[in-house]
Amino acid sequence: MQRNYAEDFPILKNSTSNGKRLVYLDNAATTQKPASVINAIRDYYESSNANPHRGAYPLSERATELYEGARQRVADFLNAAGPDEILFTKGTTEALNFVASSFAMDIVNEGDEILISIAEHHSNLIPWQMVAKAKGASLKYLYTDAKGELTEEELDAKISPRTKIIAVAHVSNVLGIVNPIEKIVGRARQVGAAVVLDIAQSLPHMKVDLQALDVDFAAFSGHKLYAPMGIGVLYGKRQHLSKMRPMLYGGGMVEDVSQQEAVFLEAPYTFEGGTQNVEGAVGLHAAIDYLMGIGYDEIKGIEDELSLYVVEGLLNNPHVILYGNSHPHNRTGILSFNIEGVHPHDVSTILAADGVAIRSGHHCAHPLMRHLGVNATCRASLSFYNTKEDIDIFIESISKVRRWLRLESK
Ligand code: ALA
Repeated sequence: MQRNYAEDFPILKNSTSNGKRLVYLDNAATTQKPASVINAIRDYYESSNANPHRGAYPLSERATELYEGARQRVADFLNAAGPDEILFTKGTTEALNFVASSFAMDIVNEGDEILISIAEHHSNLIPWQMVAKAKGASLKYLYTDAKGELTEEELDAKISPRTKIIAVAHVSNVLGIVNPIEKIVGRARQVGAAVVLDIAQSLPHMKVDLQALDVDFAAFSGHKLYAPMGIGVLYGKRQHLSKMRPMLYGGGMVEDVSQQEAVFLEAPYTFEGGTQNVEGAVGLHAAIDYLMGIGYDEIKGIEDELSLYVVEGLLNNPHVILYGNSHPHNRTGILSFNIEGVHPHDVSTILAADGVAIRSGHHCAHPLMRHLGVNATCRASLSFYNTKEDIDIFIESISKVRRWLRLESK
């Protein structure tokens, strides 16, 4: 019998929502934390808390080992060339903003082009608007087709010799579609563009090998990967990081400071000014260990099966409009939909009465909403800790929505 992974998550075992068992289907917004992650953070504070890289005493050395051990774990997990290519950040947003301000600002010039997809989260969109405006460059969009996918024709039509940066999500946070990164990187190399990849929504569901993908930068948030909020990662190729300006100036990132000058440390330390989030790094290390103890094959197997089951349940309802590809091929368990005649906020409020947590709104993707011709959608997003029973409760609750609003009798 398949293991019920919800058992590993205290909040899923104990919580009720509106007096019902919590059915948590908002995993693309943030994931719950397994006991092993919660315990690792408690252990850190009970046995190893000190400021890393700043003390010669054993406690500080232990904190340093834990912090740097987490960096090494992330580097191995992503198959980076080394831990010096891994920077800890607050999350994906900070990481992408840093690439825009410290890398793109130096290589993009007037008349150049930055290419992103219409399905980007605002964190992989607004920073590029800022660079384009500041440098007199144009921001161009790859449009998704009717299934939510980026086609080769669209890539060929939009990439040009003026393209300097291509920034895309590996997986869309609204449609769950997996973008063709190998093809994008192949085209980028032909015109000498750098590729910035947002892996926030792919890493929780699939193996990401950054050397194999050969992207220039990649960013993710710990909290979507079963780790705490406030810790994230920017991966950057050594050849780029060695030339980039620091993001914050201050303690911990310098080799020597005189009255008028400062000599900075090398990457990654030059990019980590100020006391760092050691608790977050420890939690992230524990989350990766937990996930790899399960394995991506198992995670994908469970999530694909659940995803098919949700799609089947949703499409059995004649009033449900599903956005994007309905087959799990090329998609993760993120499902955006609407119910005819009902505002998504009403749907999520009615579902909440049954203990079901989904997200409704624009999902920080206004341009995509306009491209889809909607103001907002409902979004259910799955994890391997969800069960068929969760989905049954969700689908049953969906079937009640129009009746509750008197749009249907019986
Ligand atoms: N970026 C997160 C989401 O898509 C918060 O919900």
